[in-house]
Amino acid sequence: MGRLMKVEFYRHSINQKDIDNVVKVLNSLFLTTGEAVDEFEKKFSRYLGCKYTVGVTSCTAALHLSLLAYGVGAGDEVITTPMTFIATANSIIQAGAKPVFVDVEPETGNINANLIADAITPKTKAILPVHLYGQMCDMKKIREIAAKHRLVVIEDAAHAIEAKRDGIRVGELGDTACFSFYATKNITSGEGGAISTNGEEIAQKLKKLRLHGMSEGAYNRYAKRYEHWDMEVLGWKCNMSNVQAALLLNQLENIEKYWQRREEICQRYENAFESNPQITCLKVLPNSKSARHMFTILVPAERRDIILWQIQERGVGVAVHYRPIHLLSYYRQTYGYKKGMFPAAEKIGDCTITLPLYPKLSNEELEYVIQTVKEVTDEV
Ligand SMILES: Cc1ncc(COP(=O)(O)O)c(C=O)c1O
Repeated sequence: MGRLMKVEFYRHSINQKDIDNVVKVLNSLFLTTGEAVDEFEKKFSRYLGCKYTVGVTSCTAALHLSLLAYGVGAGDEVITTPMTFIATANSIIQAGAKPVFVDVEPETGNINANLIADAITPKTKAILPVHLYGQMCDMKKIREIAAKHRLVVIEDAAHAIEAKRDGIRVGELGDTACFSFYATKNITSGEGGAISTNGEEIAQKLKKLRLHGMSEGAYNRYAKRYEHWDMEVLGWKCNMSNVQAALLLNQLENIEKYWQRREEICQRYENAFESNPQITCLKVLPNSKSARHMFTILVPAERRDIILWQIQERGVGVAVHYRPIHLLSYYRQTYGYKKGMFPAAEKIGDCTITLPLYPKLSNEELEYVIQTVKEVTDEV
């Protein structure tokens, strides 16, 4: 073993300009939803090429409100993937519906669109695909299935702001797409989220749902003579604040530059592990631009945890994305899910390790991670 180095699992890219933008808001009158949120929403819509963006406090809230906006609730089923963070499936339960899992493609980890039709029942209301690790699902096929069965499509794009596939941009074929600005995401406000949509009515509905169902927010009410507000629908409390929005404005300007560096890092990982019989990388398909949110490798299942711990012991931050949701206690107990039901997702869950990936990762750190992973998989 060579010298030890400390390589963090993630470091954000917040710079002085981001900080200045936040200070500007802190020195202004409105800290809650106002001008900065408005500016962020317009900028984000322009970046994605969608008509409307609604800023919220998390992707979990974005998913939850999207389901509510389309009337998904008690007695309904929503088809999704077990290979995702629990937020995806939890949001379905929060809306009152039942998550129905469909297995994934072994080579990408994304929901296998060819298996979706078999999971549709008269109770199915929506499909909730997750663009895992940054690569888009087969949205053309998913849209086709949804059109045939009159289902809503809500994209979990928490990993995939920059993604494109088959000429389709993330959010382009979904009824809404939901984004996360959580602490480790490609752009971040610590906590935060957004919903994109091309539907004006849905955008208006989402704006109400993010603020208790009130007819107008504080910023709009304050600017004019006092008027009484009404509550038209039952909403939640998850409106994005000006402080969160201010932190995102300049990161959006740098988003492609940050992506370029992550792409470079991923390609170096892929080349380094290409001929290693113990390490498999998940595939980026032709005709697909992955947002490169996470870099995951697969190692032999029986040694995964030991390899993970040994990499950690040598100073490299690692994680597991994800152990499949259907095997977590709550899901087993509540819905009777069992081992063996979604073998492709289970295999990834047993074998996967996520390596450091962020623009600030230096070449020296990158080479150290590669060397460490190779040595550890050979030794243990
Ligand atoms: C795939 C996926 N969906 C949803 C979420 C939830 O995002 P948030 O923490 O913004 O609610 C995450 C967060 O890590 C995620 O990875």
